[in-house]
Amino acid sequence: MALLKPFSDSKGRIAFDLVRKEIKQVEKQISQQVNAFDPEVAPYIDYICNTSGKRIRPALAVLAGGALGKISDDNLKIGVIFELIHMATLVHDDIIDEADTRRKTPTPNAKWGNGMAVLLGDALFSHALLLATEFGCIDICRKVGTASREVCQGEVIQTQRRFDLSLTKEEYFQVIAMKTGALFAASAGISASLSGANSDTEQKIYDYGLKLGTAFQIYDDCLDLVGSEDTVGKTLRTDLEKGKLTLPLLNLLETAPNSTKKQLQKSIKDKEPLDFEGLVGKEAYAEAVDDSLNTAAQMLQEARSNLDCLQPNDYTTGLLEITKYLEDLIDKCRR
Ligand code: IPE
Ligand code: IPE
Ligand code: MG
Ligand code: MG
Repeated sequence: MALLKPFSDSKGRIAFDLVRKEIKQVEKQISQQVNAFDPEVAPYIDYICNTSGKRIRPALAVLAGGALGKISDDNLKIGVIFELIHMATLVHDDIIDEADTRRKTPTPNAKWGNGMAVLLGDALFSHALLLATEFGCIDICRKVGTASREVCQGEVIQTQRRFDLSLTKEEYFQVIAMKTGALFAASAGISASLSGANSDTEQKIYDYGLKLGTAFQIYDDCLDLVGSEDTVGKTLRTDLEKGKLTLPLLNLLETAPNSTKKQLQKSIKDKEPLDFEGLVGKEAYAEAVDDSLNTAAQMLQEARSNLDCLQPNDYTTGLLEITKYLEDLIDKCRR
């Protein structure tokens, strides 16, 4: 992990060495987006745009650009667009999850209420789609629109299937590929094509992003159960409360002895708070989380094999090292 060593800056932000300069530029451009909004609206957008996330989606755009050719303003713009779309989905997601903290700051719903937060998420979403038109290319607009719709549909299906004990693992994987994989995939794929990738290579990079994003959501779903809010900086333990049946839970339902399984199912259906360790035992609970993390690690390995088509250079190595960065996060999640 030489080239992409993640570091924490003075504000505790994580970034990636290799693309540090480009990510700084992306962040500057994100802050500047506020100027496009009505002065009455701008302060709200400013608040949301000046929070600091891990910037994984822009990092993918920059790295995919560099892996295929020269990094240009176009690659950065893809990073800006996908980070804005990501932030819009988070604003909406925090309303649904009734989360009050994100990126170590109060969420828009906590600050201004749900109504305002819905509208601000919409404003951010539409602004990102508008930015995509600046490429003057229908194909890019179509891909950005498709990825955004995919995220929204993933969230819709997840909401529709909440507390639904008939949800299969396949269906779960499908939902998380839509709600999280789609943005990783499109950010990397579109950026690669802007740097000259042919359609086969673009598809490979897209698939790499899809697997990476899906693995990342599995990790995040484990984090919701075992992470600490202080370290992670966002509200946790909301998944089950909101009826999201995530992989660790699906694993438990699969492996628990019949009587425990019945109890689990009843508690989920009745929306009772669940003490997993008390109900299934410390070991079985840890195993369910661990198995999920193994599934995520396996997906990261598959993601890496999609990069075989790339010429070796620092940025190709960077794309490979993002998977290692996620593996390290996964390992920290193990008990
Ligand atoms: C959080 O994404 C939502 C998920 C898809 C799990 P990130 O973990 O990338 O959030 P930030 O951008 O770093 O805040
Ligand atoms: C990811 O789901 C949200 C989106 C992809 C929109 P989560 O609900 O798990 O994300 P966090 O944990 O709140 O960041
Ligand atoms: Mg959430
Ligand atoms: Mg989560």
